[in-house]
Amino acid sequence: MDKIIVHGGKRLTGEVTVSGSKNAALPILIASLLTAEPCRYQRVPNLADIHTTLKLLGGLGVKIDKQGWARGTSELTVQAEMVGKLEASYDLVKTMRASFLVLGPLTARFGQARVSTPGGCAIGARPVNLHLKGLEAMGARIEHSHGYIEATAVRLHGAKIYLDLPSVGATENLMMAATLADGTTVIENAAKEPEIEDLASALNKMGGRVRRIEAGSFVIASAITGGDVLIKDARAEHLDAFLIKLQEAGVVLSCDPGGIRVQRNGKIKSVDVTTLPYPGFATDLQAQMMVLMSVADGVSVITETIFENRFMHAQELDRMGAQIQLEGNRAVVRGARELSGAPVMATDLRASVSLILAGLVASGSTEVSRVYHLDRGYEHIEEKLSNLGAQIERVKA
Ligand code: EPZ
Repeated sequence: MDKIIVHGGKRLTGEVTVSGSKNAALPILIASLLTAEPCRYQRVPNLADIHTTLKLLGGLGVKIDKQGWARGTSELTVQAEMVGKLEASYDLVKTMRASFLVLGPLTARFGQARVSTPGGCAIGARPVNLHLKGLEAMGARIEHSHGYIEATAVRLHGAKIYLDLPSVGATENLMMAATLADGTTVIENAAKEPEIEDLASALNKMGGRVRRIEAGSFVIASAITGGDVLIKDARAEHLDAFLIKLQEAGVVLSCDPGGIRVQRNGKIKSVDVTTLPYPGFATDLQAQMMVLMSVADGVSVITETIFENRFMHAQELDRMGAQIQLEGNRAVVRGARELSGAPVMATDLRASVSLILAGLVASGSTEVSRVYHLDRGYEHIEEKLSNLGAQIERVKA
């Protein structure tokens, strides 16, 4: 298994360009199941989760042209003309929960689908009841057997659906199904994340623009190292709650359509943070914020309201000298810690990047293992950080 080694203490400066967003790209690629026409995608990040999605689509019989990727243009063409199989296996869904998103499009277009239930996940239980409730409201018959959901429908019809929680995945699954259902579907209490807006615009005319969480991680990288970094192609309007918190913490930001410049001159102050559905503070930036708060002046309370077990990075950060006390869904972070490098283990995608951020300011070297979590969602992160002056390397297994 690969490891990443970060030698801390370098100030980051320069420019970095963020890649296309994983969480926007996954549903948009899956949306190609809705049509027999070829769909051409640009700026598709070359990541493990995208490879899993292409494997899933390929297994269903979808044609995939990766020549653009081979030329380094991040372009992909996907055509779901002949779909020979209507099933997503447990192997794929357990590797990547977003595979469950094929349920809506396949049922809507072909009248049936068999998709493994995802099961639990390290960060929480993550049920799919809202996806199923919505499809049932649209006329699908749902059966659960042998760990699989089987959905059938002669033809889906539009419906008025109320989501008890604004679930990102359920909103995406139902939006895709609704495009081929007869009549109009209204999803009340739908998620409003930028990924949803992007899927909507892709469903209207395929195209992707969101670059949210990766940009947020670079914002912290610059702030934590006292650096001066221009994050090109980052869209400040997607990061409002996060950027406001950073400004409260004393980070200097200048935002324009070209990107976000992040500078830090003085000390970082502790601020309290509560994760919420968009436009609130994103749960996917909570681990990164916890690292910043570990070196900030004061005490910060971080409350996680989206996932019940998304604090696994706290114990690893404590091994590097952070002082974090967990009380249910709250983490009390005592700041002003001098972090020191240590061998640590990534437990999920955003936890893994938080350990790298901690490594950037820790004394000595930090060895992050289980980096396959990182590879699911960050494209060329070592190169991007090295170009900004970080001392970081990957050790191949
Ligand atoms: C998406 O997951 C993202 N994944 C996650 O990013 C992100 O953390 C999450 O949205 C919240 O922003 C992708 O886009 C691929 P939800 P999703 O359905 O769709 C409960 C990352 O690091 N719920 O909005 O699975 C659920 O248990 C990943 O990139 C139900 O109760 O999230 C959770 O508590 C991690 N029933 C809450 O809703 C349901 O049917 C929000 O989950 C569905 C969800």
